[in-house]
Amino acid sequence: MSANPSVVSSNKRLDGKVAIVTGGASGIGAAAVRLFSQNGAKVVIADIQDNLGQEIANKLCENVSYIHCDVSQEEQVINLINTTVDKYGQLDIMYNNAGIIDNFYISIVEASKSDLDRLLAVNLVGSFLGAKHAARVMIPRRKGCILFTASACVNIAGLGTHAYSVTKHGISGLVKSLSAELGEHGIRVNCVSPFSVATGIAGRIPSEEEIAQNEMFVSGVANLKEKILKVDDVAQAALYLASDEAGYVSGLNLVVDGGYSVVNPSMMTAFATHFKPPVE
Ligand SMILES: NC(=O)c1ccc[n+]([C@@H]2O[C@H](COP(=O)([O-])OP(=O)(O)OC[C@H]3O[C@@H](n4cnc5c(N)ncnc54)[C@H](O)[C@@H]3O)[C@@H](O)[C@H]2O)c1
Repeated sequence: MSANPSVVSSNKRLDGKVAIVTGGASGIGAAAVRLFSQNGAKVVIADIQDNLGQEIANKLCENVSYIHCDVSQEEQVINLINTTVDKYGQLDIMYNNAGIIDNFYISIVEASKSDLDRLLAVNLVGSFLGAKHAARVMIPRRKGCILFTASACVNIAGLGTHAYSVTKHGISGLVKSLSAELGEHGIRVNCVSPFSVATGIAGRIPSEEEIAQNEMFVSGVANLKEKILKVDDVAQAALYLASDEAGYVSGLNLVVDGGYSVVNPSMMTAFATHFKPPVE
Protein backbone atom coordinates (compact mmCIF):
# COMPACT_ATOMS: atom_id res chain seq x y z
CA MET A 1 0.00 0.00 0.00
CA SER A 2 1.46 3.42 -0.91
CA ALA A 3 1.77 6.19 1.64
CA ASN A 4 -0.48 9.25 1.40
CA PRO A 5 1.66 11.69 -0.69
CA SER A 6 0.26 14.77 1.09
CA VAL A 7 1.61 13.34 4.35
CA VAL A 8 5.13 12.51 3.18
CA SER A 9 5.80 15.36 0.74
CA SER A 10 6.55 18.00 3.40
CA ASN A 11 7.51 18.06 7.01
CA LYS A 12 5.38 21.18 7.34
CA ARG A 13 2.21 19.36 8.18
CA LEU A 14 -0.21 22.22 7.45
CA ASP A 15 1.42 23.64 4.31
CA GLY A 16 -1.03 25.70 2.27
CA LYS A 17 -3.76 25.62 4.92
CA VAL A 18 -5.56 28.52 6.57
CA ALA A 19 -6.50 28.18 10.25
CA ILE A 20 -8.42 30.17 12.83
CA VAL A 21 -7.63 29.57 16.51
CA THR A 22 -10.10 31.08 18.97
CA GLY A 23 -8.62 31.86 22.37
CA GLY A 24 -5.29 32.02 20.52
CA ALA A 25 -3.84 34.83 22.65
CA SER A 26 -2.99 32.60 25.62
CA GLY A 27 -2.35 29.08 26.89
CA ILE A 28 -3.29 26.12 24.69
CA GLY A 29 -4.53 28.39 21.90
CA ALA A 30 -1.27 30.38 21.77
CA ALA A 31 0.69 27.10 21.64
CA ALA A 32 -1.51 25.92 18.76
CA VAL A 33 -0.98 29.20 16.90
CA ARG A 34 2.81 28.77 17.17
CA LEU A 35 2.76 25.12 16.15
CA PHE A 36 0.28 25.58 13.28
CA SER A 37 2.31 28.48 11.85
CA GLN A 38 5.60 26.58 12.25
CA ASN A 39 3.91 23.86 10.21
CA GLY A 40 3.18 26.18 7.31
CA ALA A 41 -0.38 27.35 8.04
CA LYS A 42 -1.59 30.90 7.76
CA VAL A 43 -3.14 31.48 11.19
CA VAL A 44 -5.71 33.97 12.45
CA ILE A 45 -5.78 34.49 16.20
CA ALA A 46 -9.30 35.30 17.44
CA ASP A 47 -9.53 36.54 21.00
CA ILE A 48 -10.71 39.35 23.26
CA GLN A 49 -7.23 40.04 24.73
CA ASP A 50 -6.22 42.44 21.97
CA ASN A 51 -2.77 43.39 23.26
CA LEU A 52 -1.68 39.79 23.87
CA GLY A 53 -3.14 38.55 20.58
CA GLN A 54 -1.55 41.33 18.54
CA GLU A 55 1.79 40.82 20.33
CA ILE A 56 1.84 37.13 19.37
CA ALA A 57 0.93 37.96 15.78
CA ASN A 58 3.73 40.57 15.62
CA LYS A 59 6.28 38.16 17.08
CA LEU A 60 5.47 35.31 14.70
CA CYS A 61 5.83 35.47 10.93
CA GLU A 62 3.72 37.58 8.57
CA ASN A 63 1.44 34.56 8.17
CA VAL A 64 -0.10 35.13 11.61
CA SER A 65 -2.66 37.88 12.19
CA TYR A 66 -5.04 38.93 14.94
CA ILE A 67 -8.76 39.71 14.86
CA HIS A 68 -10.77 40.80 17.89
CA CYS A 69 -13.64 38.36 18.30
CA ASP A 70 -15.85 37.63 21.29
CA VAL A 71 -16.97 34.13 20.32
CA SER A 72 -20.25 34.48 22.21
CA GLN A 73 -21.36 37.25 19.78
CA GLU A 74 -22.59 35.86 16.48
CA GLU A 75 -21.95 39.02 14.44
CA GLN A 76 -18.31 39.00 15.62
CA VAL A 77 -17.93 35.34 14.63
CA ILE A 78 -19.42 36.10 11.21
CA ASN A 79 -16.93 38.97 10.84
CA LEU A 80 -14.04 36.68 11.87
CA ILE A 81 -14.87 34.04 9.27
CA ASN A 82 -15.65 36.51 6.49
CA THR A 83 -12.50 38.59 7.12
CA THR A 84 -10.35 35.45 7.10
CA VAL A 85 -11.84 34.20 3.83
CA ASP A 86 -11.57 37.69 2.25
CA LYS A 87 -7.89 37.86 3.25
CA TYR A 88 -6.75 34.30 2.48
CA GLY A 89 -9.41 33.01 0.08
CA GLN A 90 -10.29 29.92 2.14
CA LEU A 91 -10.66 28.40 5.61
CA ASP A 92 -9.29 24.89 6.19
CA ILE A 93 -9.09 24.59 9.99
CA MET A 94 -11.44 26.11 12.55
CA TYR A 95 -10.10 25.47 16.06
CA ASN A 96 -12.77 26.48 18.59
CA ASN A 97 -10.61 26.62 21.69
CA ALA A 98 -11.66 29.74 23.63
CA GLY A 99 -12.96 28.87 27.06
CA ILE A 100 -13.44 30.10 30.61
CA ILE A 101 -13.93 28.51 34.03
CA ASP A 102 -15.85 29.33 37.20
CA ASN A 103 -14.91 28.84 40.85
CA PHE A 104 -13.70 25.26 41.23
CA TYR A 105 -14.86 24.74 44.80
CA ILE A 106 -18.54 25.37 44.24
CA SER A 107 -21.36 23.00 45.21
CA ILE A 108 -24.42 22.62 42.97
CA VAL A 109 -26.42 24.12 45.85
CA GLU A 110 -24.41 27.33 45.64
CA ALA A 111 -23.95 27.39 41.86
CA SER A 112 -25.38 30.51 40.25
CA LYS A 113 -27.37 30.61 37.05
CA SER A 114 -25.38 33.66 35.99
CA ASP A 115 -22.13 31.65 36.13
CA LEU A 116 -23.77 28.85 34.14
CA ASP A 117 -24.99 31.37 31.54
CA ARG A 118 -21.52 32.94 31.32
CA LEU A 119 -19.78 29.60 30.77
CA LEU A 120 -22.40 28.38 28.32
CA ALA A 121 -22.10 31.60 26.29
CA VAL A 122 -18.34 31.30 25.74
CA ASN A 123 -17.55 27.59 25.94
CA LEU A 124 -20.58 26.11 24.21
CA VAL A 125 -22.43 28.82 22.28
CA GLY A 126 -19.05 30.23 21.13
CA SER A 127 -18.02 26.79 19.87
CA PHE A 128 -21.41 26.26 18.22
CA LEU A 129 -21.21 29.61 16.40
CA GLY A 130 -17.61 29.00 15.32
CA ALA A 131 -18.59 25.63 13.88
CA LYS A 132 -21.71 27.01 12.21
CA HIS A 133 -19.97 29.82 10.34
CA ALA A 134 -16.90 27.73 9.50
CA ALA A 135 -19.17 25.05 8.02
CA ARG A 136 -20.91 27.74 5.95
CA VAL A 137 -17.66 28.46 4.06
CA MET A 138 -16.26 24.89 4.15
CA ILE A 139 -19.32 23.11 2.72
CA PRO A 140 -19.02 24.63 -0.79
CA ARG A 141 -15.30 23.61 -0.91
CA ARG A 142 -16.22 20.08 0.21
CA LYS A 143 -13.35 19.97 2.70
CA GLY A 144 -12.27 21.31 6.06
CA CYS A 145 -11.54 20.47 9.63
CA ILE A 146 -13.43 21.70 12.68
CA LEU A 147 -11.74 21.24 16.05
CA PHE A 148 -12.69 22.01 19.62
CA THR A 149 -11.00 21.97 23.00
CA ALA A 150 -13.27 20.03 25.35
CA SER A 151 -11.79 18.62 28.60
CA ALA A 152 -10.95 15.35 30.32
CA CYS A 153 -13.96 16.17 32.54
CA VAL A 154 -16.01 14.78 29.65
CA ASN A 155 -14.47 11.37 30.32
CA ILE A 156 -14.41 11.26 34.09
CA ALA A 157 -16.23 13.19 36.80
CA GLY A 158 -14.56 15.27 39.48
CA LEU A 159 -12.29 17.43 37.34
CA GLY A 160 -14.42 20.57 36.99
CA THR A 161 -17.51 22.33 38.25
CA HIS A 162 -20.99 21.22 37.16
CA ALA A 163 -21.39 24.28 34.94
CA TYR A 164 -18.02 23.75 33.25
CA SER A 165 -18.74 20.06 32.84
CA VAL A 166 -22.09 20.82 31.18
CA THR A 167 -20.39 23.07 28.62
CA LYS A 168 -17.68 20.53 27.78
CA HIS A 169 -20.14 17.62 27.52
CA GLY A 170 -22.08 19.86 25.14
CA ILE A 171 -18.98 20.20 22.96
CA SER A 172 -18.44 16.45 22.88
CA GLY A 173 -22.08 15.97 21.81
CA LEU A 174 -21.62 18.65 19.17
CA VAL A 175 -18.56 16.83 17.78
CA LYS A 176 -20.64 13.69 17.17
CA SER A 177 -23.66 15.54 15.87
CA LEU A 178 -21.59 17.67 13.48
CA SER A 179 -19.52 14.78 12.20
CA ALA A 180 -22.77 13.06 11.21
CA GLU A 181 -23.93 16.03 9.12
CA LEU A 182 -20.61 17.37 7.84
CA GLY A 183 -19.06 14.04 6.83
CA GLU A 184 -21.42 14.27 3.88
CA HIS A 185 -19.48 17.38 2.79
CA GLY A 186 -15.97 16.02 3.35
CA ILE A 187 -15.52 17.96 6.61
CA ARG A 188 -13.91 16.28 9.65
CA VAL A 189 -14.96 17.23 13.19
CA ASN A 190 -12.96 16.31 16.32
CA CYS A 191 -11.99 17.56 19.75
CA VAL A 192 -9.03 17.37 22.13
CA SER A 193 -9.72 16.84 25.83
CA PRO A 194 -6.82 17.88 28.04
CA PHE A 195 -6.10 17.05 31.65
CA SER A 196 -5.06 19.94 33.91
CA VAL A 197 -2.37 22.16 32.38
CA ALA A 198 -0.95 25.43 33.69
CA THR A 199 -2.35 28.42 31.70
CA GLY A 200 -3.98 31.77 32.33
CA ILE A 201 -7.46 30.24 32.53
CA ALA A 202 -7.80 31.19 36.20
CA GLY A 203 -7.93 34.83 35.09
CA ARG A 204 -4.29 35.89 34.85
CA ILE A 205 -0.95 34.58 33.59
CA PRO A 206 0.50 32.43 36.40
CA SER A 207 3.99 33.20 37.73
CA GLU A 208 6.81 30.65 37.29
CA GLU A 209 6.35 29.74 40.95
CA GLU A 210 2.58 29.20 40.59
CA ILE A 211 3.16 27.07 37.49
CA ALA A 212 5.69 24.93 39.39
CA GLN A 213 3.30 24.53 42.37
CA ASN A 214 0.40 23.62 40.11
CA GLU A 215 2.54 21.13 38.18
CA MET A 216 3.70 19.49 41.38
CA PHE A 217 0.11 19.15 42.60
CA VAL A 218 -1.13 17.80 39.26
CA SER A 219 1.74 15.34 38.82
CA GLY A 220 0.92 13.96 42.28
CA VAL A 221 -2.59 12.95 41.17
CA ALA A 222 -1.78 12.21 37.50
CA ASN A 223 -1.71 8.66 36.19
CA LEU A 224 1.30 9.13 33.91
CA LYS A 225 4.43 9.92 35.86
CA GLU A 226 7.84 11.27 34.72
CA LYS A 227 6.09 13.74 32.43
CA ILE A 228 4.16 16.94 33.10
CA LEU A 229 1.42 17.97 30.69
CA LYS A 230 2.32 21.19 28.88
CA VAL A 231 0.30 23.35 26.50
CA ASP A 232 2.53 22.15 23.65
CA ASP A 233 1.43 18.54 24.27
CA VAL A 234 -2.19 19.58 23.78
CA ALA A 235 -1.27 21.66 20.72
CA GLN A 236 0.51 18.61 19.23
CA ALA A 237 -2.72 16.60 19.55
CA ALA A 238 -4.62 19.43 17.84
CA LEU A 239 -1.95 19.57 15.10
CA TYR A 240 -2.41 15.86 14.43
CA LEU A 241 -6.19 16.24 14.11
CA ALA A 242 -5.77 19.33 11.90
CA SER A 243 -3.28 17.64 9.56
CA ASP A 244 -3.82 15.28 6.65
CA GLU A 245 -2.33 12.53 8.84
CA ALA A 246 -5.76 12.43 10.47
CA GLY A 247 -7.42 12.43 7.04
CA TYR A 248 -10.00 9.73 7.95
CA VAL A 249 -10.42 10.69 11.62
CA SER A 250 -13.76 12.27 12.47
CA GLY A 251 -16.03 12.23 15.51
CA LEU A 252 -13.08 11.61 17.83
CA ASN A 253 -12.56 12.94 21.34
CA LEU A 254 -8.77 12.74 21.63
CA VAL A 255 -8.16 12.63 25.37
CA VAL A 256 -4.78 14.04 26.41
CA ASP A 257 -4.77 12.94 30.04
CA GLY A 258 -2.01 10.33 30.36
CA GLY A 259 -4.65 7.65 30.96
CA TYR A 260 -6.16 9.42 34.00
CA SER A 261 -9.78 8.94 32.92
CA VAL A 262 -9.49 5.19 32.28
CA VAL A 263 -7.85 4.33 35.59
CA ASN A 264 -9.58 4.07 38.95
CA PRO A 265 -6.72 3.54 41.39
CA SER A 266 -8.92 2.94 44.48
CA MET A 267 -8.89 -0.90 44.21
CA MET A 268 -5.12 -1.07 43.66
CA THR A 269 -4.55 1.28 46.57
CA ALA A 270 -6.88 -0.77 48.82
CA PHE A 271 -5.15 -4.03 47.80
CA ALA A 272 -1.74 -2.54 48.48
CA THR A 273 -2.89 -1.35 51.91
CA HIS A 274 -4.82 -4.47 53.02
CA PHE A 275 -2.70 -7.23 51.53
CA LYS A 276 0.73 -5.86 52.27
CA PRO A 277 3.07 -8.79 52.89
CA PRO A 278 4.04 -8.88 56.57
CA VAL A 279 7.38 -7.24 57.27
CA GLU A 280 9.89 -10.00 58.27
N1 LIG B 1 -5.91 24.66 31.33
C1 LIG B 1 -6.50 23.50 31.57
O1 LIG B 1 -6.18 22.80 32.55
C2 LIG B 1 -7.57 23.00 30.65
C3 LIG B 1 -7.99 21.67 30.78
C4 LIG B 1 -8.98 21.20 29.93
C5 LIG B 1 -9.53 22.03 28.98
N2 LIG B 1 -9.11 23.31 28.86
C6 LIG B 1 -9.73 24.16 27.84
O2 LIG B 1 -8.71 24.65 27.01
C7 LIG B 1 -9.18 25.84 26.36
C8 LIG B 1 -8.08 26.89 26.43
O3 LIG B 1 -7.90 27.27 27.78
P1 LIG B 1 -6.47 27.62 28.41
O4 LIG B 1 -6.28 26.71 29.56
O5 LIG B 1 -5.45 27.72 27.36
O6 LIG B 1 -6.81 29.05 29.06
P2 LIG B 1 -6.33 30.52 28.71
O7 LIG B 1 -7.13 31.41 29.60
O8 LIG B 1 -4.86 30.60 28.76
O9 LIG B 1 -6.81 30.70 27.20
C9 LIG B 1 -8.15 30.92 26.88
C10 LIG B 1 -8.24 32.07 25.89
O10 LIG B 1 -9.64 32.24 25.55
C11 LIG B 1 -9.88 33.63 25.45
N3 LIG B 1 -11.29 33.92 25.62
C12 LIG B 1 -12.03 33.91 26.77
N4 LIG B 1 -13.27 34.31 26.51
C13 LIG B 1 -13.34 34.58 25.18
C14 LIG B 1 -14.37 35.03 24.33
N5 LIG B 1 -15.60 35.33 24.79
N6 LIG B 1 -14.09 35.17 23.01
C15 LIG B 1 -12.84 34.90 22.54
N7 LIG B 1 -11.84 34.48 23.30
C16 LIG B 1 -12.08 34.33 24.61
C17 LIG B 1 -9.03 34.23 26.56
O11 LIG B 1 -8.83 35.62 26.37
C18 LIG B 1 -7.76 33.40 26.47
O12 LIG B 1 -6.82 34.00 25.61
C19 LIG B 1 -10.46 26.24 27.07
O13 LIG B 1 -11.55 25.83 26.27
C20 LIG B 1 -10.44 25.41 28.34
O14 LIG B 1 -11.73 25.14 28.84
C21 LIG B 1 -8.12 23.83 29.68
